[in-house]
Amino acid sequence: MQPWTFVHVADIQPGSPKSFRYRPAWQENWDTARQQIIGVDPDLLLIGGDLSADGWIHRFELAEIKADLDTLPFPYYAVPGNMDTGNKHTARNGTRCRERDDIDLNVTSAQLRRYVGIFGPMEWTHVHKGVRFSGFYAAVAGSGLPEEAGMWRWLAGLKDAEPRTAEHVIIMHYALFVDAIDEPNYDITDRDQYLPWYFGIDEPHRSRILRAFKAAGVTICISGHIHCRKHDVVDGIRFDKAPAPSFAQFGTHWPDGDPSLGFLRYDVSDARIARTFVPLARESAAQGYGPGGHPRPALRDYSLAWQKTDLSALLDEDRA
Ligand SMILES: [Fe+2]
Repeated sequence: MQPWTFVHVADIQPGSPKSFRYRPAWQENWDTARQQIIGVDPDLLLIGGDLSADGWIHRFELAEIKADLDTLPFPYYAVPGNMDTGNKHTARNGTRCRERDDIDLNVTSAQLRRYVGIFGPMEWTHVHKGVRFSGFYAAVAGSGLPEEAGMWRWLAGLKDAEPRTAEHVIIMHYALFVDAIDEPNYDITDRDQYLPWYFGIDEPHRSRILRAFKAAGVTICISGHIHCRKHDVVDGIRFDKAPAPSFAQFGTHWPDGDPSLGFLRYDVSDARIARTFVPLARESAAQGYGPGGHPRPALRDYSLAWQKTDLSALLDEDRA
């Protein structure tokens, strides 16, 4: 077999100067990563969510990054992230409730439909040169939304997808687990556990997803969201927590974690799929404006925007 290559990138989230916040460094870092990925000349690009900074409230950010990605000289396959749609559900607010209302951030069907209307189905599977590729948005687990039922149906059916292949690569935005596959559910109300809660999938959904992976012959699972690279193997499945090109997080959490900016390159040959971390060639130091995280509506000041626009039109579009 002629060796070939695919690339995985996540958390590109370039943002927009029309927004209440903007980090031009993230746009510039995406421009850099984009050129580097084109230089790799992969057969295909996997995008592990957070394509946008605030697509969860701005439809135009999703449309703009879609237009950008559509000009790439190879096909790409994306899954949504929480910044494109909404967060994993919680019934309780967490320790950061002064700046964010966690319950209000629970992903909604309207947000998911908006993403699907632009990017197409959240769940997909196909085979390229003898390798199966699949993607889905696990954060709907436990939401009770109609999209959750659809996700479980799709996951249950994945084991029957034909043809069965020796390698099956699946991408998701949230990590299936943060520290260990058998970790407890982290407590959103505990300051030290907020981020571990925010980054991973809770039980009983985690075990149900792992069972579906095993039944479907998944060999590699790549996740985003954490912006810190780490690699584990569970029951023979390689779990790759991907780096981000935009900005680093969680860099001191794991002794073997690496928050360096960049993306992952995978080279496929007869014998194996070899993974290589590709560091970002240039890191932008450009300064922006506005708050980080998930600010409450009262903390979103559009008068800061560098690119002035008709705010009512902007938000009318969001309600559509
Ligand atoms: Fe995320």
